[in-house]
Amino acid sequence: MANPSILILAGDGIGPEVMAEVKKIISWYGDKRGLSFDVSEDLVGGAAYDVHGVPLADATMAKAQEVDAVLLGAVGGPKYDVLDFSVKPERGLLRLRKEMDLYANLRPAQCFDALADFSSLKKDVVAGLDIMIVRELTSGVYFGTPRGITTQPDGSRVGINTQVYTTEEIRRVARSAFELARRRNNKVCSMEKANVMESGILWREEVQWVHDNEYPDVELSHMYADNGAMQLVRRPKQFDVIVTDNLFGDVLSDCAAMLTGSLGMLPSASLGAPMANGRPKAMYEPVHGSAPDIAGQGKANPIACILSFAMALRYSFDQGAEASRLEKAIEKVLADGVRTADLMGPEGGKPVSTTEMGDKIIDALNASL
Ligand code: NAD
Ligand code: IPM
Ligand code: MN
Repeated sequence: MANPSILILAGDGIGPEVMAEVKKIISWYGDKRGLSFDVSEDLVGGAAYDVHGVPLADATMAKAQEVDAVLLGAVGGPKYDVLDFSVKPERGLLRLRKEMDLYANLRPAQCFDALADFSSLKKDVVAGLDIMIVRELTSGVYFGTPRGITTQPDGSRVGINTQVYTTEEIRRVARSAFELARRRNNKVCSMEKANVMESGILWREEVQWVHDNEYPDVELSHMYADNGAMQLVRRPKQFDVIVTDNLFGDVLSDCAAMLTGSLGMLPSASLGAPMANGRPKAMYEPVHGSAPDIAGQGKANPIACILSFAMALRYSFDQGAEASRLEKAIEKVLADGVRTADLMGPEGGKPVSTTEMGDKIIDALNASL
């Protein structure tokens, strides 16, 4: 049987730096676990713009549609701020999500014991934290029309974006959340702003409908998203699975990242409908961006990107045990006190580089055999 295929799109800024460490891990699995992948690489974001004049070439889009999984680093950077909106690096990422129809973005926030002291919140608030944010990824205000910037007859300008959700778009992501909850602690909290948005009213009604008709065994609650943000920092362990729209999910997941200690720790899986082989169409991407402030300095934490590969092992390649092996290796390295700069507390110490962190994780993988 052919090896499973992976398309790597490292992108911009720290994207290629953190992805280099993932490539080492992929090779390790081929060498040591007999798990070989057909890996190809291509350009996305500013890197693609520099070569093709667009942030995602059609040929790259076509490849992404064919592989078993896409691994994405990060896109964007100040160099591209001046570009026309239609060719900005971020448009490449949004095109991938939309055309692959990756509607369920799983953003787990887990606090490793070794980092509980390091969170900006008190240790007992975050120790043992394990929540899953399910962010709708292909609709909402990111894609709704009308949109744009128009000039009025008096010369003033208007910027327009529109939040649009259909019944089916809400129901399918709600199902993803309920399915996940059944394999976790059986609780879903749905977040919107039904108090001010009609799309929020529909969101609440449709999530409730899916619950009542298909998942009555799962505990469901509803919360306004602003309160949700407050509750996430007040008592995050009250949550199991959170399901929310594209924009609220973007903001709430960055917030959840800090509960784990650093944005450099948070992975994600963007999943669509099952392909012919039964596995979901999928892209794996860290939650963080291209971090222009530290790019090119060997300071980036590669763990979010490596944990995203662990999610690929679990959700695309049916290798749950190997995913756990990788997660445990990371846990061990952190327990040994190995830290990239973003994980240094006020007590200081000497941070390791991106490459050294990758090497330490490989050492821990070797020790796991
Ligand atoms: P960012 O996530 O790039 O950085 C925010 C802060 O977190 C910075 O201080 C950065 O140094 C730090 N940080 C992020 N990842 C880190 C890591 N792995 N290790 C250590 N520190 C890390 O967000 P931003 O600065 O708002 O955006 C920069 C660019 O990235 C923008 O162009 C934005 O559009 C883009 N972006 C891309 C993605 C993506 O590709 N998925 C996600 C978010 C932002
Ligand atoms: C993310 C990012 C993206 C988003 C940008 C870069 C398009 O912030 O993946 O969280 O807003 O979805
Ligand atoms: Mn974001």
